[in-house]
Amino acid sequence: MLVENNVALQPFNSFGIAARAQRFARLRSEADLAGLMSGPDWVAPVFVLGGGSNLVITGDIKALVLKVDILGRRLVEETAKGWVVEAGAGESWHPFVAWTLEQGWPGLENLALIPGSVGASPVQNIGAYGVELQDRFHSLDAIDLQTGRAFTLDAAQSGFGYRDSVFKHAPTDARSFGLAGRALITRVRFLLPKPWKPVLGYLDLERKMAETGIHAPDAQQIFDWVVAIRRAKLPDPAVIGNAGSFFKNPTVTPEQCADIIARDPKVVHYPMPDGSIKLAAGWLIDACGWKGKSVGNAAVYEKQALVLVNRGGPSHPCTGGEVMTLAKAIQTSVYERFGIRLEPEPVVV
Ligand code: EPU
Repeated sequence: MLVENNVALQPFNSFGIAARAQRFARLRSEADLAGLMSGPDWVAPVFVLGGGSNLVITGDIKALVLKVDILGRRLVEETAKGWVVEAGAGESWHPFVAWTLEQGWPGLENLALIPGSVGASPVQNIGAYGVELQDRFHSLDAIDLQTGRAFTLDAAQSGFGYRDSVFKHAPTDARSFGLAGRALITRVRFLLPKPWKPVLGYLDLERKMAETGIHAPDAQQIFDWVVAIRRAKLPDPAVIGNAGSFFKNPTVTPEQCADIIARDPKVVHYPMPDGSIKLAAGWLIDACGWKGKSVGNAAVYEKQALVLVNRGGPSHPCTGGEVMTLAKAIQTSVYERFGIRLEPEPVVV
């Protein structure tokens, strides 16, 4: 197993930030990792790189970077409850979703076109258009990076929350079961339930139904709609570097929300099942006038204020520092106007 030195990371992060990994290893199998861990090149700390689509790199990475390229996809079993489908962590998410539909196993269509890898999908519990990964999750295989032991987690053990999981928390967190930096996900299994039921509650999908007059879409139709909605709103990382939504949508109490509505009646808000209210962070940022503003080559996307983009392209990319300076300025202005602290969604390294 070869560890490469001084590897350019620009192709491996969707922001297109230029930085280097002092040491970099590509893992194509569990055996590659076992070989690396038992050899002289294995020196802590290590950093697990998935699709790099939810990442801001603020400088060269000194840790040994592990690029997970484990491939493979298969039907594990079909039961009366549904299809259990498995994919290697290195598979790209969107082609995997398209493949499940081609095979006749619907259920992931609302999550079409999300950038990144299958292995990264449970880390931030990806979600879009009314479906979160945890709604379709079966289990995952991972390897403990301290002991080399393989283990399997089910949904409860993965600690899913909104854009959150056990993999986002340090082992020393108050939650104490954090696995950040401790585990490498190798394979993920999904349970695609039978009978298939469309998830159509999201406003953008309701609009598509009204526009087309199709009120009983099949899974492929929903997939096509989600692709079209995302293409219209969100920048394609292959063209304009970005890491998707930069902040989580914040949750407030009904009292806090009433206070904001009294001042800004148009604030976009959604009641949650637990009685709290979720606010649209994109709306809050937009209301503070951030669309199109920039710091160096990092900018706020003109069509969706929740997305920060690399305006410099591959030749003059923004730096991670510029992204974080812009993010902090946005946080300050939203806090000053609305009293709300926005929490970044990507991993910052
Ligand atoms: N809005 C504005 N101005 C903006 C942006 C949004 O007024 O600049 C308003 C919109 O008009 C809409 C509301 O805010 O009324 C919500 O916007 P949108 O439907 O675009 O969704 P979002 O809450 O901004 C979330 C996810 C996205 C996901 C979409 C669809 C988070 C942090 N983001 O965005 O996920 O695709 O819903 O489900 O939860 C990602 O995580 O990277 C991501 C793209």
